[in-house]
Amino acid sequence: MKLPPHLSIKNSHLHIDGQDCVALAQRYGTPLYVTSEDRVCEQFMSYQKALSRYYPKVSILFAAKANGNLAVIRALARLGAGADVFSSGELHLALEAGMPAEKLLFNGSSKTPEDLKIAVETGVKVSVDSQDELHQLDTAAKKAGKTAKIAFRVNPALEVPTHPKIATGLATSKFGIPHKEIPAAYREAMACNNIQPVGIHCHIGSQILDVEPFARAAEVMVRLAKELTDMGVRLEFIDLGGGLGIPYHHDTDPAPTPEDYAAKVVPVFKAGIEACGITPELWVEPGRSLVADSTVLLTRVNSTKSAHKKFANVDAGFNLLIRPAMYDAYHEVIVANKADVPLTAEYTVTGPICETGDILAADRRLPPVVAGDTIAVLDAGAYGFAMSSQYNCRPRCPEVLIHGTQVSLMRRGENLGDITAAMQRPSWQR
Ligand code: LLP
Repeated sequence: MKLPPHLSIKNSHLHIDGQDCVALAQRYGTPLYVTSEDRVCEQFMSYQKALSRYYPKVSILFAAKANGNLAVIRALARLGAGADVFSSGELHLALEAGMPAEKLLFNGSSKTPEDLKIAVETGVKVSVDSQDELHQLDTAAKKAGKTAKIAFRVNPALEVPTHPKIATGLATSKFGIPHKEIPAAYREAMACNNIQPVGIHCHIGSQILDVEPFARAAEVMVRLAKELTDMGVRLEFIDLGGGLGIPYHHDTDPAPTPEDYAAKVVPVFKAGIEACGITPELWVEPGRSLVADSTVLLTRVNSTKSAHKKFANVDAGFNLLIRPAMYDAYHEVIVANKADVPLTAEYTVTGPICETGDILAADRRLPPVVAGDTIAVLDAGAYGFAMSSQYNCRPRCPEVLIHGTQVSLMRRGENLGDITAAMQRPSWQR
């Protein structure tokens, strides 16, 4: 199986950044998320390099929903990244990680009055999802004696090749304002006393392995930018969203790079803004492609079973990685302590959750597996821990970060006390 450069096989063991995954599993216990900080940084730099080769004013906003660990966001902040934040929690995280408010965009299709208040007070830009929200934000800004800088989230009505649950710019999707209604929305914004429209934003979907749809989205966006510029809106940025996919099937999926993306999309963007006579910043919001392959989830085989097929029952389930159960997503798996042993058997790798759908990997060729083996689930850095839960009262596992030759916990594992920590005893039960 093709491996990215930070993963290697030595002495039959899978290594990440030169660290033996089997030794890490022994030291920290399983399940365990292990992330290569250097890999995250390398992916960020390749976006930075590719985009700025075509256009100088580029800002990369990490989609914080993909990986919400402070240490990961801090590493990106140090390289100059901003963030797409989709909640007050993600906003808090990004600020805590040292990202300046100017580099943050507060997205969201259903913001609370408290979210709007925090957005106004911190001075972040807001991607507004409806006219209703626009007026609520105007009121919040007035109360705070401030002007809120906004973009509208455009619904470009584009079909994209991905799982329907993560296509976000379909005409039928819940996000954004239909593109035809965008000029009217900006007109409304310009009439608000405490709103300044400064950008325009879209996101067409996630795990898209073809760069063509992004170019189509850019066409919609620059066409709108022209209309808005003609109306007198001064666009400081055009945000084309995130969405570049990664090759989860290592040997067969296409693997579009930031360079492929930039080569296809930026020329469309540049031609469009030249037609407008403006030089706004180009913003992109990658999540998955920055962090997915940086991380492995290590899980121990508790038992094996031969029933109608062979099962390897492991200690991580959809409580820790929900993507296979939720989107039928495919993640490569490697038996970390038998990484060069021939794949002579077939197993379905199942988690410990009390649900039939708790399958991490179905029908995979693996070496013969026994209890105590360590299985590595690859490409777990995006929407992995971030979507974890305590379902079945399972404490969440620790996360470890590697940087150069250093290894450190970046999140302690939860314990049984954490299961009940936030629960309260109603007065009548005292
Ligand atoms: N910006 C906005 C406004 C978004 O909605 C998203 C993802 C991103 C940026 C980042 O997109 P990316 O570069 O990661 O594709 N949980 C799903 C993915 C949901 C994506 C939702 N929005 C999964 O595990 O596949």
